[in-house]
Order: sequence, then C-alpha cells, then structure tokens
Amino acid sequence: MKGIVLAGGGGSRLYPATKSVSKQLLAVYDKPMIYYPIWTLVTGGIREFLIISTPRDLPAIEALLGDGRDLGLSIAYAEQPTPGGIAEAFVIGKDFIGDESVTLILGDNLFIGQEFDAQFAAALEGFTGGAEIYLKAVPDPERFGVATIGADGAVQSVIEKPADPASNLAVTGLYTFGADVVNVAGQLPRSDRNELEITDVNAHYLHRGLLRYMVIPESVQWIDTGTPDSLVAASLAIQQHTRDQESEIGYVEIAAFRRGYLSQDALLRIAKRTPSDVYAARLRLAAKGKAS
Ligand code: TTP
Repeated sequence: MKGIVLAGGGGSRLYPATKSVSKQLLAVYDKPMIYYPIWTLVTGGIREFLIISTPRDLPAIEALLGDGRDLGLSIAYAEQPTPGGIAEAFVIGKDFIGDESVTLILGDNLFIGQEFDAQFAAALEGFTGGAEIYLKAVPDPERFGVATIGADGAVQSVIEKPADPASNLAVTGLYTFGADVVNVAGQLPRSDRNELEITDVNAHYLHRGLLRYMVIPESVQWIDTGTPDSLVAASLAIQQHTRDQESEIGYVEIAAFRRGYLSQDALLRIAKRTPSDVYAARLRLAAKGKAS
C-alpha cells in the first residue's frame, strides 16, 4: 500500500498566516501540521509516500522531511501547479502508484484518538481493491461530501455538499483505492469549478458496487484545520491528548518505531539531535518503553 499526502491548496482562510508559508507547515501544538496525516498513514502500515504540494511550498516541505530515510520511510515529492482538485493527486501520482493500492490523506486532516488506529490498520491490511472511504458523523454535513447508507448496510449515495443532507455522515479526507484509481481519475471530466472531484471518483466506485466504508468512532475527533478556530481547536485537542493521555499522536518518529521501520538505536539517535528537550524526552520514553 502506497500513501499520498495532498498538501497544496491556497490556505486562503488562514491568510495572512499562509501568505508565505504552507498551511501544512503551520504548527498544531508541538509539530508541523503535516506530521499528523503522515503519522496516521504510518500507523496504518504505510511506508512509501508521495507528498504533493504547490511549487512554492514543496521545497519547504522537503526541507522538513527529506527523503524520509531518517524516519525509516521513503518520501517522494511532486508538484500540483494549481489546485485542480483532490482527485488530481492520482493523475500526478500515476507513476508513484504503479500497480499498488493507495491511500490518500489531505494534509490538513487530523484524526485524534486511539480507537481508530487498529481499525484503520486492519482495513489497509485487508484491502484487496475497489474503494474504501472513512465516514464521520458530524453536526454540519452540508459542508462536506455526504454518504448515505442503505438498509442493507451498503453505501447508497455520495453527494458533494448537499443543501439538504440525507445523513450526517461526512466523507473525511482519507481514502483508499485500488491501483485502477489512476485510470478512473484520469478519465473524469472537470467539474464546474474546474477540478477533478474526489466525490466523482467515489461515485464511480459506488456505481460499480465497489465502494466500502468505515465509520470513525465517536470518541475519535476529526478536525480539518482550515480555519483559525479549527487550527486552535486542533492544537488544544493534541495538547490534551499528549499531556493527559500520553498519546503518541503525530510523532512520526515513534509511529515508525512502533511499526518496526525504525530501530531503537535510530530513534535514540534522532532524540539526541533534537534541539527541544521536551520532544527529545518523548522520543526517548518511547524508545526505552518498548525495550523494557
Ligand atoms: P481546502 O481546505 O479545500 O483548500 P485550501 O487548503 O486551499 O484552503 P482555503 O479553502 O482556505 O483556500 O483543501 C483541503 C486540503 O486539500 C488542503 O490540505 C489542501 C489540499 N488540496 C490540494 O492540495 N489540492 C487541491 O487541488 C485541493 C482541492 C485541495
């Protein structure tokens, strides 16, 4: 399974914070925002990444993460010249995806809470093709793609920002597809807003009877950090999880270690060259904990 993090966009709602810096590099509590979606995918068992961003922001993201080797990962980069839609990621990522399945996550989507991790990892491990979307019950579904589930338990419809939503299940910014998604996305017409729409990709799989879903547990928070208020809310939620529950959320280094991509020595070496004493201590704790 390959992983794509789509981390472009204009970030207009966070202007002027995003005037010269990618939204995905802004801090969410103690880490750059992009650590969290990467962490989610590493926790799910993904090791090979493509990060897609704007020509302006890609160099800064690459300066942060490099080729991923230090983290036990492989990270490649590709430009999205203009925000041509979420599904454009599969056109840009065609060669990277090759003949493997792929999970796409948006660079500003945070999933906060441990109850989802094992379920997500199992979904990826058991994935054999078609499509899987991850739904979350929300109070304001009209802001998102909305899925309805039929009496038979299968997805009945996926509709982008419906005026009168038939369910409260939002389609989150996390999607898993078989390798054929490259062709599906490549053959889509552009929408009225001139984008390749992820909802059209999902609808395509739905019509073929290949769209599955998982509902994210109530205890797990889903935050898309696109506005000043949601950015603060995300920071506070992460602070609480990190301090009170000793959660490892967002620590990409620790997730790689837990998955066995990074040795204990390698994690301790990263801790040693980490200038923040607090962050380094967290890495050391994880490294030592597993050894004992
Ligand atoms: P949005 O929040 O829809 O867009 P944005 O980040 O440009 O923000 P704003 O609306 O305030 O201008 O995008 C959601 C995520 O998906 C975000 O992480 C950026 C990413 N994205 C792309 O990288 N390319 C795209 O073409 C689109 C549509 C989104």
